[in-house]
Amino acid sequence: MKAKLTLHKEFSIGETDKRIYGSFIEHLGRAVYSGIYEPGHPQSDHEGFRDDVAALVKELDIPIVRYPGGNFVSGYNWEDGVGPAANRPMRLDLAWGTRESNQIGTNEFARWAKKVSTEVMMAVNLGTRGADAARNLVEYCNFKRGSFWSDLRRSHGVPEPHGFKLWCLGNEMDGPWQICHRTAEEYGRAAAEAAKVMKWTDPSIELVACGSSSARMATFGDWEYTALDHLYDFADYLSLHIYFANKEGDALNFLGRSLEMDRFIKNVAGICDLVKAKKKSRKIVNLSFDEWNVWYHSNDADAKIEKWTEAPPLLEDIYTMEDALAAGCMLITLLKNADRVKIACLAQLVNVIAPIMTEKGGPAWRQTIFYPFMHASKYGRGTVLRVPVSSDKYDSKEYWDVPYLEAVGVHNMERRELTVFAVNRNLTEALDLTAGVYGFEQYQFIEHITLNHENLQAVNSAKEETVRPVVRHKGTIDGAVLEIRLPPASWNVIRLGSV
Ligand code: AHR
Repeated sequence: MKAKLTLHKEFSIGETDKRIYGSFIEHLGRAVYSGIYEPGHPQSDHEGFRDDVAALVKELDIPIVRYPGGNFVSGYNWEDGVGPAANRPMRLDLAWGTRESNQIGTNEFARWAKKVSTEVMMAVNLGTRGADAARNLVEYCNFKRGSFWSDLRRSHGVPEPHGFKLWCLGNEMDGPWQICHRTAEEYGRAAAEAAKVMKWTDPSIELVACGSSSARMATFGDWEYTALDHLYDFADYLSLHIYFANKEGDALNFLGRSLEMDRFIKNVAGICDLVKAKKKSRKIVNLSFDEWNVWYHSNDADAKIEKWTEAPPLLEDIYTMEDALAAGCMLITLLKNADRVKIACLAQLVNVIAPIMTEKGGPAWRQTIFYPFMHASKYGRGTVLRVPVSSDKYDSKEYWDVPYLEAVGVHNMERRELTVFAVNRNLTEALDLTAGVYGFEQYQFIEHITLNHENLQAVNSAKEETVRPVVRHKGTIDGAVLEIRLPPASWNVIRLGSV
């Protein structure tokens, strides 16, 4: 099969915001306990944080990590997680039916974030709590000294404020599964008042309002409009969430779902602009895609977990080659919308629907989805190029006109590098790609990284990395024409640079 694309230096969509390579750690399953934190593990530091996990997180080069939830945050008393660890209460977490020891809380997490060179994207509880707890938390974290909550932080051994810049106004408040689920009207009012006092406490913070937890929610659209109508002056971003699943074993349909993700982004951006127009505002509310991934492999195992267990193995999806392709399509979709999506979080980071897995007392290892994310984070920063693609298309059960070739280009001017990220959705045929390259006269072919496997269900494990990238040096650039072959069902990173 053949396909064409055009890369032109002047066809720019916008600059990437590095925060699109964010991730997420929730107090859920083994993300925290025996994930990032396992005192007594041979590779743990003096505080109990695993160095082997930290090293893998650093490989991904993640600029922000959302914390502490997720559904968990809607029942969380942040005060339980600060002060002497021995005095912290064991609580029931109603979101996941587990017990939470609170041995890790805000200050420990901030220390872990420093260890892995990331920033914390904090979430406040707008389920069981509200404006008062939220503004106290901002004061505890960000106020220098001389007030009740800032001095309490200092008495907890944290003399300098954390200075967290980005805050989520609750989590998935549109979902009936949420602790203290609200209507859009209720959420909009409550979140606006919380936002107001949070910003009065620290005017430098940025706020993310809850959008729909999926475009398939019955309230989608109305939720965004109504909530934003209340929140427009306070919110800087509106959130979107999506999880792909392939329960029917229909790979082509599964890989087509990124078209739905693209439509979701464009529709939410449209609603933000509708509210902007109605309010005659000059402000633009951008998007925070703060949960995205594949999630379904663990559903049956989760149903069997005994209730009220502490840190049980929940949501431990083991990802296939096919899932890595889906993750690749999602990353390309985020990049193609770089003009509106300024924040995105791969949900989640360790053990819970994650690129990094750990064994208790044993090794940490990379799942298949680790690689597309790592490549995008490493090479996908700069000016995103609109890449016109001409490729054969297919129809699947839910999606029509799905191009076999999904692609985007990113030009990093500083490094003088041009990278094309591409997925060949054709499961059986290689794709001979011809790319017209304009405005990059000095650029030469550097390398072609591929991730593929003849078995789409191949997975990695602690023992073996069956799915791993291969670097190829085959590819020609002749004047303005690049020719390259993309293997069937593959994730590709094509790198050009000026020598
Ligand atoms: O990431 C797992 C869960 O998915 C989060 O807690 C919730 O926000 C979403 O439904």
